[in-house]
Amino acid sequence: MTSDSPMIELQGVSKTYGTAQAPVHALLPTDLTLAQGEVVGLLGFSGAGKSTLLRLINLLEVPSSGRVLIGGRDLTSLPAAELRQARQQVGMIFQQFNLLSSRSALENVSFALEVAGLSSAQRRERSREALSAVGLSDKESAYPAQLSGGQKQRVAIARALAMRPQILLSDEATSALDPHTALSILRLLKQLKRERGMTMVVVTHDIKVASYLCERSVVLEKGAVVDRIDMSRPEPVSRLGRFFFETAKGWTDQTELPQEET
Ligand SMILES: Nc1ncnc2c1ncn2[C@@H]1O[C@H](COP(=O)(O)OP(=O)(O)OP(=O)(O)O)[C@@H](O)[C@H]1O
Ligand SMILES: [Mg+2]
Repeated sequence: MTSDSPMIELQGVSKTYGTAQAPVHALLPTDLTLAQGEVVGLLGFSGAGKSTLLRLINLLEVPSSGRVLIGGRDLTSLPAAELRQARQQVGMIFQQFNLLSSRSALENVSFALEVAGLSSAQRRERSREALSAVGLSDKESAYPAQLSGGQKQRVAIARALAMRPQILLSDEATSALDPHTALSILRLLKQLKRERGMTMVVVTHDIKVASYLCERSVVLEKGAVVDRIDMSRPEPVSRLGRFFFETAKGWTDQTELPQEET
């Protein structure tokens, strides 16, 4: 990796599912660049293509066109073994936490390291370090069923951190949490940005999340970027972008829907 390359660069990346007869254009050709340490929000309604875009960044989805560069390296051209290695720079967290219910917090974190081939001593050390970073050192033996939603998300964040990634992808990570717990998780993410310079892409429906955490946001509608917003001076140009900011003020009978629901 060269120090002047962007951390993440999508060049004309698109994704079409389905068949030639019945294609689903989940993401139209999209450019997106993040410098190291930048945190960018991905806003959009259900089905807009947010998760698809996120999964294209670590090539969990193979692009239908375009290139994905991480630290200047084109992931789309890497052989499988190198791709597996490059993916270790990218951690991911989800709305539903995706923890293994039969494993303790420590074992959940250590599992990803096992897959990556670390020794048992290294796994233990890294897992403890990651659980400590999320404030859960006292819960290492607890099973997911014994943890609150916020604690489960902390375990999932620890699991993502254990590989010491430079990038964190977050898919609605706080959507299933109450506002107080959500804020505590967002503070943890902000701390990771501040202290580790982590680069993040944060999918959310919630403009408050983007306003708190992100320098910029991209608004997606039906697979297309319709707005790119500087969160320090938000001036949305699209109806959908404006709608997201309107809803932050609360809903009234006058709140205009960007598109009529059918
Ligand atoms: N594996 C798949 N096969 C076929 N179509 C898919 C697949 N994954 C997603 N899609 C379609 O692509 C579009 C975008 O889906 P995506 O999951 O990216 O949306 P999203 O913005 O994350 O939505 P949500 O907010 O509901 O999570 C949708 O029309 C969806 O049905
Ligand atoms: Mg999604």
